[in-house]
Amino acid sequence: MDVYKIALIPGDGVGPEVIDEGVKVLEKIAEMDGGFRFEFTRFPWGCEFYSETGKMMDEDGMEQLSEFDAIYLGAVGFPGVPDHISLWDLLLKIRKGFDQYINLRPIKLLNGAPCPLTEKPDIDMLVIRENSEGEYAGAGDWLFKDKPEEVVLQTGVFSRKGTERVIRYAYEEARAAGKTLTSISKGNALNYSMVFWDQVFEEVGKEYPDVKTASYLVDAASMFFVLDPTRFEIVVTSNLFGDILTDLGAALTGGLGLAAGANINPEKSYPSMFEPIHGSAPDIAGKELANPLAALWSASQMLDFFGQEDWGKRLLNTIEDLMVENKVLTPDMKGQATTKEVGDQVVEMLTAKVV
Ligand code: NAD
Ligand code: IPM
Ligand code: MN
Repeated sequence: MDVYKIALIPGDGVGPEVIDEGVKVLEKIAEMDGGFRFEFTRFPWGCEFYSETGKMMDEDGMEQLSEFDAIYLGAVGFPGVPDHISLWDLLLKIRKGFDQYINLRPIKLLNGAPCPLTEKPDIDMLVIRENSEGEYAGAGDWLFKDKPEEVVLQTGVFSRKGTERVIRYAYEEARAAGKTLTSISKGNALNYSMVFWDQVFEEVGKEYPDVKTASYLVDAASMFFVLDPTRFEIVVTSNLFGDILTDLGAALTGGLGLAAGANINPEKSYPSMFEPIHGSAPDIAGKELANPLAALWSASQMLDFFGQEDWGKRLLNTIEDLMVENKVLTPDMKGQATTKEVGDQVVEMLTAKVV
């Protein structure tokens, strides 16, 4: 029997609430399949751990995590610990340390999902966000602190290797799916990084003459995300633009409670990490109000990653059925159910459904 070893980092705020539901659903799926099982190990890392130990994870945390097949993470960051510390010492440390340079964020309007646009368009895109460098390189300086000549530098780092590999990955995805690949950048103002990005996009594209391409400046792309989102299929973009565009995309396709993400190391040299794209939601934490569907969709991405695509699809279909038929939903989706009730309902529907 295949055993998938999963490191759980529920983290802060609503993180543990939504991860509990994900684990419940994954365990049910493994039980129903009978051909594989999950071995979960829970790590208590996060802001509470920081308050007790002065660290966001164990000293040898990365070594411990490297033994796992995947990481399933809730959210990191909570008032009381400066965000740049909590995030850089846990979430970003993992993405970077395990070279999870591909961030797959589906922006897809599932049936039954709320959409603020008057005519519900058929939104179905996959944003491939560069996830290891760019504006998140952590490079910069703080000069002449508290002096009148104070200057702060935050350097975007775009290496040939880092830029090429994400763009190549996106071309491969677009070719395999027979879809248009759109690059979103900002070469008019960012006269080093994005000029280079555009150049690499064009260069790599020569190897993929069969792939239809488009290029947008990020400001115009933001407008078209709202006014005409169906023009996008596969999107490749830099770390920061991808971060912002996917929250915008989430707003169009059901909100942050339904937005999933996978941080992939394609070479499988290190574990990949699956997480909802939302944060710890301090405003609703501890109230049983958190929508677990984003975490469940991330679990579906994890099933795909393990080659259990049938289950990945079935879980996603169940989320869709839940929104269309049962409407056992949390308040962000105009329902009255608790986090746990939504998870229980998904389990019940998975069990009831004849394949
Ligand atoms: P957030 O995503 O936590 O919350 C934004 C809004 O969305 C809030 O109103 C919140 O209630 C709502 N929301 C988020 N998840 C929800 C869910 N599952 N169900 C229903 N509503 C949900 O963003 P924020 O408030 O800007 O950040 C809070 C903290 O989380 C900060 O410390 C931030 O740095 C961190 N953060 C972490 C991650 C991550 O771990 N991947 C992602 C984003 C933000
Ligand atoms: C996300 C988050 C993170 C990011 C933060 C918490 C560092 O916003 O996963 O979208 O910017 O990547
Ligand atoms: Mn974000």
